Amino acid sequence: MKQLNRKCDGFFGQMDKLGLALGYGDVRLATSYSEVLPKDAKLQAMFSRNVGVNIPIVSSPMDTVTEASMTIAMAKLGGLGIVHKNLAPDAQITVVQQVKHYLSAFVSSPICVKAEQTVGEVRAFAKKKGFKFLSFPVKDDNGNIVGVITSSAFEFCVDDAQKIFKVMTTQIISAQEGTDIPTAYQILMKNHIKILPIFDAQGKLLGIYTLADVKRIMAGDSLNYNLAPDGTLRVGAAIGVGDEAKQRMDLLSSAKVDVVVIDTAHGDSKGVLEMVKYCKKRYPEIDVVAGNVSEGASAKRLAMAGVDGIRVGQGPGSICTTRVIAGVGCPQVSAVYSCERALRGSGVFLCADGGIEFSGDITIALAAGASTVMLGKLLAGTTESPGEVILQHDQHFKAYRGMGSLSAMKQNLASRERYGQGESDKDKLVPEGIESQVPFKGDVEKVIEQLVGGLRSGMGYCGAKDIPTLQKNAIFHRVTSAGMAESHPHGVEQIVRAPNYGA
Ligand code: XMP
Repeated sequence: MKQLNRKCDGFFGQMDKLGLALGYGDVRLATSYSEVLPKDAKLQAMFSRNVGVNIPIVSSPMDTVTEASMTIAMAKLGGLGIVHKNLAPDAQITVVQQVKHYLSAFVSSPICVKAEQTVGEVRAFAKKKGFKFLSFPVKDDNGNIVGVITSSAFEFCVDDAQKIFKVMTTQIISAQEGTDIPTAYQILMKNHIKILPIFDAQGKLLGIYTLADVKRIMAGDSLNYNLAPDGTLRVGAAIGVGDEAKQRMDLLSSAKVDVVVIDTAHGDSKGVLEMVKYCKKRYPEIDVVAGNVSEGASAKRLAMAGVDGIRVGQGPGSICTTRVIAGVGCPQVSAVYSCERALRGSGVFLCADGGIEFSGDITIALAAGASTVMLGKLLAGTTESPGEVILQHDQHFKAYRGMGSLSAMKQNLASRERYGQGESDKDKLVPEGIESQVPFKGDVEKVIEQLVGGLRSGMGYCGAKDIPTLQKNAIFHRVTSAGMAESHPHGVEQIVRAPNYGA
């Protein structure tokens, strides 16, 4: 593939000669002539070879950041959520299913219920799975579709012991394979029905169209949603290495996950490289992102093993202590640049993971060569992050902890394995992260709005109409600590908290 030169090659080359590696606080981007208004900057990017995003922001697979609510919110905002692996395999699959069934114009493997089940059983099942819908095709004991039950039937049925076949509709209005969304919309509206089963010529159920989602698509309300080709919200899931990860992969594949992230602290290791090869051979249809790494040579080895994307960042995260506990790692801007340099032209995409404090850091990460950024702290403490709101001294907080913090490691084998301590005595664990709490921030949409706004602004200042142009033309300034002090508000006291600045 074509090896493009980038304007920042000289800058990073000089830094390299000096043996200097730079973090976000060490650089700013040069402004340049611009015809780009922030609102017109295009933010589409690739997380991996086949999985795109409409905004270049991905939520981190951490147990205080990404479960179902965050993943759904992120995909609706155009980004992507990666479900963490401290959940047991069954629980992680349930989260992926919740996302996949949250909306979809066409559900290709619809959940069916049995005619002999009771209304109460189906209600309990939907509640346990966290499904927001109550419309299902109904099967008999031989697997034939014998009816349809919708939320109205549940609404008007007061007897939980009632059998489904007593309250379902047996006059099934359906359509044939190949029915498109506008046609499905017409049929659903004309017949006042909530789901439209689609059968093939042999009478086999291929899937269902759902009214709410078909309506939304027809109204053009989901333009920025991050959708898979089948109309479902995109979702990623973290896995580890070894036998348990292989089982997870099997389950995730049947749940139609879009991308898996091999989530380890040291991606340039035998176990990860073997896992990448295993996944790509056995599940070529699922994109594999692996990490974490922070050196170009490591990124190259992962690319040779067949990854579709790489997570860059060893120790830059807000809750990370790897750099000080182990004494390793490369400051993040240089890490991203050196991985991009090593992979240029390969078609493998980079995600800059950890250390993003302000929206301007996102512009810098992308300019250095990442396609997307991964966030932990900035998304923690939102309505959608897992965990309770804690009230302390009249202020609201939510817990945010490192996956390598002592409590996460004690509670979860996956966390111990992430830091190569799967076999260790639980009383002798060596943590590489801390436990913290962050102020409660409300809905994640508001946080993303500010981050995206800041990125757009940066692209406008740099004259970059899209992310590839930003990467090609960005010019970096090395700043001193005096320069950085000048960059922040100084000599004044902030009396009103700005939505995008301040603790
Ligand atoms: P931010 O800065 O967004 O970083 O909070 C999130 C990223 O930090 C990584 N991570 C850890 N790194 N010890 C580490 O060294 C940990 O305990 C830990 N937990 C998470 C991870 O890459 C995440 O996306």
